[in-house]
Amino acid sequence: MTFPVEHLDQIDSTNTEAMRRIAKGETGPLWLVADRQTAGKGRSGRSWTSEPGNFYGSLILPLECPRDVAAQVSLIVGIAVVDALAEVAGGPVDGLRLKWPNDVLIGTAKLAGILTESTVAPQSGRLIVVPGIGINLANPPRLLGRATASLNANGKSIPPAALVAPLSHWLQHWLRLWSHGETFEVVKDAWQTRAGRPGEAITVNIESGLVAGTYRGLDGAGALLMRVEDGTERRVTFGDVMLAREQTAEPS
Ligand code: BTN
Repeated sequence: MTFPVEHLDQIDSTNTEAMRRIAKGETGPLWLVADRQTAGKGRSGRSWTSEPGNFYGSLILPLECPRDVAAQVSLIVGIAVVDALAEVAGGPVDGLRLKWPNDVLIGTAKLAGILTESTVAPQSGRLIVVPGIGINLANPPRLLGRATASLNANGKSIPPAALVAPLSHWLQHWLRLWSHGETFEVVKDAWQTRAGRPGEAITVNIESGLVAGTYRGLDGAGALLMRVEDGTERRVTFGDVMLAREQTAEPS
């Protein structure tokens, strides 16, 4: 069963529109999917350039769990994006993988980004999570200092509308297995299977600066575990991860 879908020709940002709808009483579940965004939002206050032909969607998703547990939904969405893409592409896509917390890459180039916001419903006080997903199906945006990929350039021509049902299916599948965090281990394994190998060299941009080391996997709550170059272990709950072999796009 797919979640209900509302299609918008153009909007500033599907996440921003989802928050406006919730403030007016919408409780979901409901997809808002747009052809174009004029003010798409990325993580950490960055903007998300919205080229034509790509997927832009946000799901208004009510949840019965504490807010810190709901943060794991971002990891679930990453898994669902990988699985939905493999389904619509008719099989595994070469090099398709996850990078913590929720980038979807082809090789080392960014194919999709996920921005998960949350709020409480004004009437009921229930928690509502809004994962917003941008997938470069046709046209990769130019991101300063980042290589970007598109599915089209990798030989798979997929219209945005074809993604909504598989995304709903895989999200519901993984949300069921997660059981509001009671069985996060299942999600953790699925996420790690779709990510890089432990030992991969990474650099993490955290508040205090850049930390270099190796990827060790996720902990039992979804935080990133890394071994720092001085040999100590570190648990990261927020930051941007760069792969050591990540190519950078030439700034325009
Ligand atoms: C990132 O920085 O990697 C996250 C990008 C998330 C972009 C999507 S596009 C649909 C939804 N609406 C937004 O404004 N942002 C998300």
